[in-house]
Amino acid sequence: MQCLHWGKITFVGRSDVAAQVFKSKSFVNRLGSQHGLKLLGMHEEGIIWNNNNTGWQEKRKYFADGIQALAVKNANHVKLTTLAAFKLTLAEHCCAAAAAAPSSAPTSSYTAAQLPPVPELAALPLSELAAQVSGLSLDLLPDGRDFLRLITFRVTAALAFGLPVDAVGKDEALKVVHQVADYFKAWDYFLLRPDWLCRRTSHTAEHRKHLDAVHALRDATAHLIMLAAARRTSTSLPNLDELQPHGTATAAGAAASGPEEPCFLCQLLADQAAGKLSQQAVQQLALEMLLAGTDTSSISLYYLMVQLSDDPQLEQQLLAEVLAAVGDIHQLSDMQLAAALPISAGDDAQLPKCQASLCEALRFKPVGPVSIRQATEAVTLSYKTAAGSSKKEHLQPGDTVIVSLATMHRDPTVFPDPHSFNPAANFAGSYPQSAAGTATSQHCPAANSRSSAVAARSVAEHAVSAAVCGSDASDAFRPFGHGRKGCVGMQLGWLEMKVMLACWLLTLRFRQDTSKPQLLASSAAATAGIGQQVWGRFASSSSSSSSSSSAAGTAQSGLLSKMQTRWQVAAQPVQPLPLHVRCVPLAGGSRRSSGLRKLYVVGPHGSGKTTLCNALLQALAPAAVGGGTAAAAPAGPEDGSMCSETPAAAVAAALHNQAGDTRTAAATAVGYKWKLITETARHVMAAHGIRREQFMLCSRSAADPLIAAERRAAFLQLQQLITAEQLKRERAASAAAKPVLSDRAIIDVLAYATERWGSKSAEVQQLLARPETQELLSNCRAATSVVLLLPPYDAGQCGPVDDGVRMITPTADLMVAFEVVMHQQGVPYEVVRSSSVHARVGEVLGLLGVGK
Ligand code: HEM
Repeated sequence: MQCLHWGKITFVGRSDVAAQVFKSKSFVNRLGSQHGLKLLGMHEEGIIWNNNNTGWQEKRKYFADGIQALAVKNANHVKLTTLAAFKLTLAEHCCAAAAAAPSSAPTSSYTAAQLPPVPELAALPLSELAAQVSGLSLDLLPDGRDFLRLITFRVTAALAFGLPVDAVGKDEALKVVHQVADYFKAWDYFLLRPDWLCRRTSHTAEHRKHLDAVHALRDATAHLIMLAAARRTSTSLPNLDELQPHGTATAAGAAASGPEEPCFLCQLLADQAAGKLSQQAVQQLALEMLLAGTDTSSISLYYLMVQLSDDPQLEQQLLAEVLAAVGDIHQLSDMQLAAALPISAGDDAQLPKCQASLCEALRFKPVGPVSIRQATEAVTLSYKTAAGSSKKEHLQPGDTVIVSLATMHRDPTVFPDPHSFNPAANFAGSYPQSAAGTATSQHCPAANSRSSAVAARSVAEHAVSAAVCGSDASDAFRPFGHGRKGCVGMQLGWLEMKVMLACWLLTLRFRQDTSKPQLLASSAAATAGIGQQVWGRFASSSSSSSSSSSAAGTAQSGLLSKMQTRWQVAAQPVQPLPLHVRCVPLAGGSRRSSGLRKLYVVGPHGSGKTTLCNALLQALAPAAVGGGTAAAAPAGPEDGSMCSETPAAAVAAALHNQAGDTRTAAATAVGYKWKLITETARHVMAAHGIRREQFMLCSRSAADPLIAAERRAAFLQLQQLITAEQLKRERAASAAAKPVLSDRAIIDVLAYATERWGSKSAEVQQLLARPETQELLSNCRAATSVVLLLPPYDAGQCGPVDDGVRMITPTADLMVAFEVVMHQQGVPYEVVRSSSVHARVGEVLGLLGVGK
């Protein structure tokens, strides 16, 4: 008997032909070597490569009932479980980082040594957890995949096996996720290896290594089954109380879930006990659940994270979208946060930018780039050539079709910018106000658009909805495959990715990695197994670029474009990137729960920062300002410090409600004294004899490189002087135990440099490398600081503004630069949206939780 029957192999990269394959009942088998599949335990076992049609259908039902149904019927439970797994994983990483590097101690009220133990930290609501670890730097080494894999592994173990998210500690969980990754490599090695070749190579170290990997994951799965079974006998599974370890959220979550909901493993074990399934069958199904659940959503999200680490503007847009959707999350329990996150299976209407970005990651780097199918009966595929003539491809039983989802996803007639990561262009329809933005599983426009007149463009617009709602109308975007053998975990995958993305955006900020390695993959072909060779051949024979071939002749931009992947059944990066992040307190919403020590007003020139500061001072301490107008408030370097009695102890108390702060008690008792820091640049210029014209000149660009370099040096020098002066004033205020109200921050310096030279420029890096900059930045990040961003009064419409130091035209770019800087540096901020001074003061007092 032939062990690997290739038959005729047809490569398909066209979505119209792929659709015929996916929709046909004749393509439920997958090509694979019988011997190889036996070594893997997949021959007529499990679900993914089970070519015994009847057996496969029975096995698929366990997945459909245990996972698909859960994600659709009880999305909230999935959201809570994912949130709990995220928090636990974050807490573990933070405690490890704090222990390993005391110097990276958080700037919040806890020092590294004082961080609570992992279980306590993980049990806090997300906002509290973020506040505790704020400022801590995490290097997700060797890359960010393991962080995400740990979360998806725990979610899978919780939902499918009924194990609490903390049932498996970090080290053991990491071991399992690496065993999953190694099993994928073994799968890649054995899958298409003919019997004779397997025999010839069975004595080699490589063969043994892969076989060991198979056995290791089998053992780990058996251990997890035992653990789950033991819990099942001591408690009655699923014990939802333990899946969600937070007080009130717990009970509500359990109630919402319903105790009669059977978990995947419970059902398998029950059927094993009833003699319907063998132990081997149970083990293989459980193993495949771990495989499919761990290394799919995590890797897909990892690709988006790689892109975001290089694209702070997109990162900031996505965060803004999440914040706008959930509102003030500072007081929310996890249960409330999960409910507030507008995420449910099959719904792409809310968080459309997050949705589009995830879709783009799945399009651009599909984790399953190929779907390998074998015909079980004679079938004919028909299509039209570019010249318009009809063609037919006749296939016999056993003939193989390899569908390249990656190639379909690069179809230029569907995706306007196929070879770049460009969600705005390629998934424009999923942005707000679009037709696709309103699609849900109940209402999928693509599903209703069966007319052949559907324009190619609208296919892209509908692709998001179709992928989510499972409609068969949009054939160009199939990251989850499609049809009877399509991904059974699609809804769960979507939920996990969206919740993980939202949690990540809310709590972590990428740090620039200036030493990003060259993303070259020259070794990929040399180390390729048979699967890779087949896939590689297909990739190079395809007219479109594939996920493993970025050499399509198209200039590509963006980090993800440069990242090459290789086929290991799932697509993995050839050279994974480390992700460097900093923990930030949750952005947005009211900050009233922390005692205020520094209030910074930042923004482009012409936005009224000094005016607002003076008005705020007046609102908080009218007696001291003497009722004078804001504009008439004293200015000048040394006048910047003013003492003002608070109008009411309540204001001081509201601003200083940190328990146990002796300085707070003193301030409340003797009156509230502000240090106003203002006119810093003017003071520096006066002190160093810098004239206004010189200042303006060094801010301008020049065509002559020598002059440009001279101006750049002068600009940087001036900014360094201003930075030093700002630091001097902030330190003086701290030494005097006075809270600071400042009409600038280090953010302004960085924003101007960023607007001019870009966030990755040597100039910005030079400024960032200075200890003064870092000290001032950590002041801004502190939990007791509030940074207010003022937009220009009328951005884009007003002409040049004379701010007394220079003549500046506020631009939208400059405003973006402010946001990018704060985003990149992990500085939480509030945008003041009102335009009149009066309204602004009211808004700020409201933000601070102080009645006017
Ligand atoms: C972003 C996340 C995911 C992606 C991109 C993805 C992608 C895919 C793809 C491309 C296939 C092959 C489909 C075909 O041949 O038509 C597949 C199959 C499968 N997926 Fe997923 N998947 C994801 C998440 C998950 C999750 C979370 C689970 C389960 C917990 C899962 C379970 C499965 C299973 C069991 C199959 C085999 C189905 C069968 O052969 O009947 N997947 N997936």
